[in-house]
Amino acid sequence: MVSFNVYLLLLAGIQLALTAPNRDRRRQDTEGCSRSLPDLNECVENSIQYFINFMASGKLTPKVAITTFDPLLLPNMTISHQTQNFNAIYVNRYLLGLKNSFVYNTSVDLDNLELSSTFMMPALELLGMYSGESLDDQEATENSILTISIRSSTVKFRVKGELYKSTARMEFLRLNVTDVDLAMGPYVINDLDHSTHIPRVNRHFNSIPRPEFVKLIEKDLRMQLSSRLQHIANEVLALAPYEKIFPV
Ligand SMILES: *[C@@H]1O[C@H](CO)[C@@H](O)[C@H](O)[C@H]1NC(C)=O
Ligand SMILES: *[C@@H]1O[C@H](CO)[C@@H](O)[C@H](O)[C@H]1NC(C)=O
Ligand SMILES: *[C@@H]1O[C@H](CO)[C@@H](O)[C@H](O)[C@H]1NC(C)=O
Repeated sequence: MVSFNVYLLLLAGIQLALTAPNRDRRRQDTEGCSRSLPDLNECVENSIQYFINFMASGKLTPKVAITTFDPLLLPNMTISHQTQNFNAIYVNRYLLGLKNSFVYNTSVDLDNLELSSTFMMPALELLGMYSGESLDDQEATENSILTISIRSSTVKFRVKGELYKSTARMEFLRLNVTDVDLAMGPYVINDLDHSTHIPRVNRHFNSIPRPEFVKLIEKDLRMQLSSRLQHIANEVLALAPYEKIFPV
């Protein structure tokens, strides 16, 4: 029953996409994104867009939930800096804002199970606790709520799919992100140290050259978007058989 509910939900998203004005009425009777649709790309893109805008909490139905993607929990990060003689950790991190992404340039090749799609992310906010510790002076630990606000970024994903059989002998689709191209927009970093009564600028944080730090963040963000979103996409795809999502 679980997968049936989610199937209905996927259909609702696809229906919504299909019933938008100026669409061919004939297709309102079809289910999923029919493989023979002349504008299959658009159908898939609209379904992804719907999903991103309305399913960010991960609660698909009262009984079915997948990983929340806005806010998206990210793994802890360790930053070491040899020349500066300190270690830092950036922990309990969240990424906010994915649900406001615009999806475009989606292209689907079902014969080869390949898909590519670009997301424009108007405003992302990465936040977490940043702790810097000097290797010379262990007492000099500083903690900040480090917030990085990034505007107008785009990320292009290329994914490769594969079909696998479930125990019920139905075929399901699983995706693997093969390529991620991230272009980070302008950013603002806020790093007030909250370990004192009067928040002050975190000395450890400021001893890392800013471009170097931003490079680390960009690399991490690219990796996290790829692995976390792949994981979530596969959670969704595991809920309905391939032939329901892409009927003949
Ligand atoms: C990150 O580190 C913090 C503090 O060290 C810990 O409480 C938390 O569980 C870790 N989070 C993850 C996602 O590993
Ligand atoms: C869409 O993709 C095509 C081909 O990959 C590219 O030439 C074009 O610039 C893209 N459009 C946008 C708006 O990014
Ligand atoms: C996904 O692709 C990567 C590299 O292309 C590969 O190392 C990995 O095994 C693949 N994962 C799955 C689940 O196919």
